[in-house]
Amino acid sequence: MGVLQQRCRKWLLCWTPTWHLLIFFLMIFTVSGQIRYSVPEEMKKGALIGNVAQDLGLDLTRLRSGRARIVSGETSQYTELRADKGILVVNERIDREELCGEVTPCSFSFEIILENPIELHRITVEILDVNDHAPTFKNKVINLEISESATIGSHFDLESAYDPDAGIHGLQNYVLSPNDNFALKQHSNADGIRFAVMILQKPLDRELNPHLSLKLIAVDGGTPQRSGTVNIEITVLDANDNPPVFNQSLYKATVAENAPLGTYITTVNASDADSGSHGLVTYTFSNVKGKSAEKFEIDSVSGRIIVVDNIDFEKDKKFEIRVIAKDQGGLSDATKVVIDVVDINDNAPVINIMSFSNMISEDVPPGSTIAVFNVKDADSERNGQIACSLDSNLPFKIQSSLTDYYNLLSDVAFDRETKPEYNITITATDSGSPPLSTTTTLQLKISDVNDNAPRFTKPNYSAHVIENNSPGMSLFSMSARDSDWNQNARISYFLEDTEVSGSPVSSYVSINSETGVIHAVRSFDYEQIKQLVFTVRAQDGGSPPLSSNVTVKMMIQDQNDNPPQVLYPVQTGGSVVAEMVPRSADVGY
Ligand SMILES: *[C@@H]1O[C@H](CO)[C@@H](O)[C@H](O)[C@H]1NC(C)=O
Ligand SMILES: *[C@@H]1O[C@H](CO)[C@@H](O)[C@H](O)[C@H]1NC(C)=O
Ligand SMILES: *[C@@H]1O[C@H](CO)[C@@H](O)[C@H](O)[C@H]1NC(C)=O
Ligand SMILES: *[C@@H]1O[C@H](CO)[C@@H](O)[C@H](O)[C@H]1NC(C)=O
Ligand SMILES: *[C@@H]1O[C@H](CO)[C@@H](O)[C@H](O)[C@H]1NC(C)=O
Repeated sequence: MGVLQQRCRKWLLCWTPTWHLLIFFLMIFTVSGQIRYSVPEEMKKGALIGNVAQDLGLDLTRLRSGRARIVSGETSQYTELRADKGILVVNERIDREELCGEVTPCSFSFEIILENPIELHRITVEILDVNDHAPTFKNKVINLEISESATIGSHFDLESAYDPDAGIHGLQNYVLSPNDNFALKQHSNADGIRFAVMILQKPLDRELNPHLSLKLIAVDGGTPQRSGTVNIEITVLDANDNPPVFNQSLYKATVAENAPLGTYITTVNASDADSGSHGLVTYTFSNVKGKSAEKFEIDSVSGRIIVVDNIDFEKDKKFEIRVIAKDQGGLSDATKVVIDVVDINDNAPVINIMSFSNMISEDVPPGSTIAVFNVKDADSERNGQIACSLDSNLPFKIQSSLTDYYNLLSDVAFDRETKPEYNITITATDSGSPPLSTTTTLQLKISDVNDNAPRFTKPNYSAHVIENNSPGMSLFSMSARDSDWNQNARISYFLEDTEVSGSPVSSYVSINSETGVIHAVRSFDYEQIKQLVFTVRAQDGGSPPLSSNVTVKMMIQDQNDNPPQVLYPVQTGGSVVAEMVPRSADVGY
């Protein structure tokens, strides 16, 4: 244990007030010796500090007779003088750090006093440091929060370790557990306290490693070396270094037209590797002004797209919407949503009459074009394929000319007199399921042609006229009918010019051309003419006119307008011959 002895004899100046008395003694009585010992701290009780007797040149007898003992103040408890052996031993554990703290060298002094004669010897014991302390950190854990955006070279001061041992036994070095991101730099300040700083060498990535656990080890220079460890727990704080990313660059969906409001279309989904608000994604449509965006709505949080307006396939067959995903830090991504509209058979065919005159002459030949029409259907595919039909009992047919153009043709010869008008119903039906159809009705009137001659109500007429009639008397009337219309049916009556007994018939009778009433022109005389046969013609106003004849037979009836004349026997004289005529005899008897 290498005792350092240092002898130095001289008067000692003492500074402790309690020692005044002693000083007085010293000054009066004695020579004094000073011995210096060095012992390591932490020696066991009874361990030898030094052989005082030998070092002071005193023998044991003198020690005994002089009643050698330690006089001292506060530090006396550390040492014991074994006067029988002349040695100084440790009485109580000596902790250098407790005794001196950071002061070096560390020593304490006391005096040994002997009597008869009085001698006073000063003993100084230097306590040598032993590496009895490990460096320690005040806390077990150093918590650090470092943003992932921290730049390379950023400094992070670490808590210093403390080792109460002195010199080489004190804190010598820090070691950081191996890691990719940080290097360690050490400094000593003016007080000789070492401290460590972590320096960022490689950027942190929260998305890769949100948490780092490192160890900082503080070591001293003793042998064996002692060390202390503190855990460094690093929480990597998020920086908005990741944009949202859609999981698809194109979303496809279909929607049936007329889908009810609220119909679900699809869900877009963008994820953002950042945390917190930096990873909070909201969705919006980018083409706000287009009509597409008005038909749909996106839930800004869930990305669900629904229908909010009526969708008409006939207006929009497809929608393309740009969707933007944005995080709270302003980074964004865009994607496209393509929505195909599926046609529903919601449009009935439309019939357009391109050309139609509602009046047609009854003499048009079969196969004549009555009307031209076209059909349209706003739906597509089968929903827009149209077939046209007519009521089967109508004398018309439909013929397709150009695509979607049709001719309506007559299929028979018309006869106004049997059917003066037709209601032609055209039906256009698409092939949807269920099919939709439209009908349109054309009202066709058949115009008259003078194709019917007047016809007398009787095949012939006969009448009896009593003779001696007054001239101008109406005898009888006759009439004819014409099934044509209007002018074509306006009938005039004429007497055919024939001769009766050498005179024209018109000298006997006349006919009112409008009413068909026959008048006598003269008074008939049965005795001259017994019957009159003539022909009456009925003629219509058509162009050319049609006519028909009828034979009229008129019998003149006798009246008793002549006195009987006896023809037989021939009247010769004035004798009267009586002729018997039955009372019931008819005219002409
Ligand atoms: C978004 O897509 C990812 C992967 O495609 C999936 O893991 C996640 O659950 C989806 N998010 C939603 C809200 O559906
Ligand atoms: C994307 O996200 C949507 C919504 O969550 C999901 O339905 C779809 O399957 C995802 N696509 C891919 C390719 O993961
Ligand atoms: C045609 O229709 C009109 C009006 O609907 C009706 O007055 C007329 O009697 C109809 N004609 C035929 C021949 O059905
Ligand atoms: C006139 O009509 C009657 C029957 O109505 C017929 O018996 C007669 O032969 C007709 N006379 C002439 C001249 O056609
Ligand atoms: C009517 O009688 C006239 C004279 O006899 C004749 O010329 C004419 O052709 C007849 N018409 C018809 C329709 O029989």
